[in-house]
Amino acid sequence: MTKIGVIGAMQVEIETIATHLANRQEIVVAGNRFFSGYLGSIAVVLTCSGIGKVNAAMAAQILVSVFSCDAILNTGIAGNLSDELHLGDFVVANKVVYHDMDKDILAQCGPFVSYFTPDAALCQHICQCLDGNVNYKVGTIATGDQFVEDEAVKRDIIARTGALCTEMEGGAIGHVAQKNGIPFAILRCLSDDADDAAVYDNFFEQAAMRSADITVRTIGLLGSDVI
Ligand code: ADE
Repeated sequence: MTKIGVIGAMQVEIETIATHLANRQEIVVAGNRFFSGYLGSIAVVLTCSGIGKVNAAMAAQILVSVFSCDAILNTGIAGNLSDELHLGDFVVANKVVYHDMDKDILAQCGPFVSYFTPDAALCQHICQCLDGNVNYKVGTIATGDQFVEDEAVKRDIIARTGALCTEMEGGAIGHVAQKNGIPFAILRCLSDDADDAAVYDNFFEQAAMRSADITVRTIGLLGSDVI
């Protein structure tokens, strides 16, 4: 891994990471700001993609095609779908699915899969940074262009996907990464319970910053592994 792309959908999900970047440079592509620099020995390009699958897919492809990133990390918040997790806990994806696209139609086009598979080594590095510090689970993340804030919708997504949490970008980032044959990982901190009480409030910021913090630590750990 020589250059890691980092994507957060919202400013609050990336701004603390941006403050850690050494030799920071800013470039605008397709209206989005990309910050290149270093976290320790690792070259990083960081961007705030905007919310949703199209924004995330565009950012991911720009990281690959324009900045030559050879791995992508996605950091951010998610709505909790698990009775065993609570706000502030984390989910590391070992599988990411779209909850709003027919998986059989998805599998008809390259890369001919109905879900996307994060890189095991990247996930292991994330888990090493979470271990002993916070509560987390490794499992499926469900992505769709919908802020889930309805108990019935939540139950339906759980029944169809078995996901631990839901968000709006991870699947698209995995999709682009897998089309380009590069590793990716998705880390999410739970900001709400994706039910009727789910609203954008102050905890979103805290959750976003918690995920950003683990992302910085993970890249630090990756750097310490480089000989
Ligand atoms: N991101 C954070 N919370 C979410 C929710 N409830 N639905 C979709 N994306 C989210």
